[in-house]
Amino acid sequence: MAFLSDALGRIQPSATVAISRKAADMARAGRDVIALAAGEPDFDTPQNVREAAIRAINAGKTRYTNVDGIPELKEAVARKFQRDNSLPVAAEDCFVSAGGKQVIFNALLATLNPGDEVVIPVPYWVSYPEIMRLCDAQPVYAAATAATGFKLSPEALERAISPRTKWLILNSPSNPTGAAYSADELKGLAAVLLRHPQVHILTDDIYEVLVYDGGRFATLAEVEPTLRERTLTMNGVSKSHAMTGWRIGYCTGPRPLLQAMLKLQSQSTTNPSSISQWAAVEALEGPQDFLKSWRDVFEERRNLVVAGLNAAPGLECLTPEGAFYVFPSVAGLLGKVSKGGARLETDADVVLALLEETGVALVHGAAFGLTGHMRLSYAAATTQLTEAVARIQDFAAGVR
Ligand SMILES: Cc1ncc(COP(=O)(O)O)c(C=O)c1O
Repeated sequence: MAFLSDALGRIQPSATVAISRKAADMARAGRDVIALAAGEPDFDTPQNVREAAIRAINAGKTRYTNVDGIPELKEAVARKFQRDNSLPVAAEDCFVSAGGKQVIFNALLATLNPGDEVVIPVPYWVSYPEIMRLCDAQPVYAAATAATGFKLSPEALERAISPRTKWLILNSPSNPTGAAYSADELKGLAAVLLRHPQVHILTDDIYEVLVYDGGRFATLAEVEPTLRERTLTMNGVSKSHAMTGWRIGYCTGPRPLLQAMLKLQSQSTTNPSSISQWAAVEALEGPQDFLKSWRDVFEERRNLVVAGLNAAPGLECLTPEGAFYVFPSVAGLLGKVSKGGARLETDADVVLALLEETGVALVHGAAFGLTGHMRLSYAAATTQLTEAVARIQDFAAGVR
């Protein structure tokens, strides 16, 4: 339609939102639905954080703030990067946006020209290629399949880089696979990046606190300090502190890039919500001990889900190191017919039949750029996960 922009025509609506909506419609119609399609913690925002927000409202902290965040939050972010990631940054090196997604949006929109290339490992978080297309830039997909534990190898990275590459986006722990890079694995990628000075790196560390089996989270700017001048390290409180609705993301990176992002944000949303910013100060500076107990719960759920899926005929599931997703292969179900009579030719057919026949809502792998898989989010109550796994096993057993 002539009224709509060419830029809008280049992007797709979110597939994960579409599945969640169908599941919600089925639930409203009285079906017993277990929705494991969305990516948000089922825990409540901690009480101390909620109280900090109420105090901010009552103290009248309800006006515009600096575009890139109140000084108190930028200080807290700088301390967080020093404490958890050994990054020697000051408050002036930090920037706050309305969610991690706005950090990514700002960084890409502020730097990409038509035809610029951005390397993204596949499977990817759904929003990366869409934001790039909005900028008329070219996503370049680099394989990070099950064969390499869903991780980008130095060789695959080298092959994907061209003189037009402006960015590499690295997300660890990953949505949709849960794969998390070790410091050594990041060093292998850093060696390639050091040979290509035109490439900036955006590390999406939003699932930092969710690394299991005693593993230690690592981020590129920490592992290879010489890459700091071209690395934007992004993080946020959405997943770590169960604050998805508050919309606070933050980052640290080279000052000229932050200045460019500030110019853009000043002409779009201005500052993130003043109240959410005060809540985020409390989230970052208040007690953090609950994070460990939340992580233990997620680790137990991961173990339950991985074991249950691997016991289902036709499914194969790697054990991810982090986040709250698993990304099993459905290859063993393809070319067959479900108990309800659905022909399963693609991962999308499997997910649709599973939803219609059992009420379990997952997302097909193709939505994340890799067919033959599906994504299950285990950010849901353990009782629901147990029931969902039983239904998936029953569904898989019925496939002929
Ligand atoms: C990999 C990844 N990055 C970024 C985000 C966005 O986070 P925020 O809620 O802070 O915008 C998400 C949310 O699903 C995500 O999965």
